[in-house]
Amino acid sequence: MIDLTTYVNRMPVAGETLEAPDFTMGFGGKGANQAIAAARLGSRVGFISMVGQDNFGEQQLANFKANHLDVTGVGVSQKNSGTAPIFVDPSADNRILIIKGANNDLTPAVLDQHVNLIQHTKLIVLQQEIPLATNYHAIDLANKSHVPVLLNPAPANRDLNLTHVSRVDFFAPNETELATLTGMPTGNLTEIKAAARHLIDLGVKNLLVTLGAKGVLWVCANDCQLIDAIKVQAVDTTGAGDAFIGAFAHYFAQGEDVPRALHHANAYAALTVTRRGTQTSYPTAAEVERAEQPS
Ligand code: RIB
Ligand code: NA
Repeated sequence: MIDLTTYVNRMPVAGETLEAPDFTMGFGGKGANQAIAAARLGSRVGFISMVGQDNFGEQQLANFKANHLDVTGVGVSQKNSGTAPIFVDPSADNRILIIKGANNDLTPAVLDQHVNLIQHTKLIVLQQEIPLATNYHAIDLANKSHVPVLLNPAPANRDLNLTHVSRVDFFAPNETELATLTGMPTGNLTEIKAAARHLIDLGVKNLLVTLGAKGVLWVCANDCQLIDAIKVQAVDTTGAGDAFIGAFAHYFAQGEDVPRALHHANAYAALTVTRRGTQTSYPTAAEVERAEQPS
């Protein structure tokens, strides 16, 4: 996705024309954001995706290369590149529309051309800006090769099938996505734990329920921990969830245990919300180290 971000004082009402203080264009897309967060931290990342046959597509491919992604799995579709009009308000909250375009052409058949990438990795990371059938196929391929899978069910999709979800190692929804999928309430921590347990009972190995400024709840068969978020002054939260997923994937693949990887991922995501933009706000490993040093 190409992010078209407008910073607003407030949203216009129907029929109203309203001046906004600022606009930026940058690289986004949940999958690309996650991949680039992991790569900035030093992971070797193979990215399977589709860009459009337009100027945006060319720029995206150049951006993937500049961020050291392995782009052998990037294809070019006849459709337009995905775009995302985004509105960020003064409290740093965002509203996002996505026009998937080329992303819809990332079909299960495309994955079959890149089985090699899928088989030789420490973790597969999936999100939902591509067809659900493609994610299901990726889970099948990964399960066959005993490669762990992390599924981030964003954006939420009511059609997501629980049978497929039950075969992932890490399922990382936010409270709303968890409620949508289980049909259970997630208004407080007790309810969230119960909904998470329901998915564990179905076979998911680990639930990572992201709670924004409250941190992340990790639930597995015999443990449950709330890992606190790091408090920061937020200016733009766009893509913070993706930064969290990419950073978790990086630290997990490095061999950190789940709570430690989550702690690092929280710290990484916190840094990104203190800066404007999506990928432009993602720090490198060196910047993370500097931020962690006591001043
Ligand atoms: O999660 C943030 C991302 O969602 C943005 O980069 C935008 O492209 C949308 O995909
Ligand atoms: Na940001």
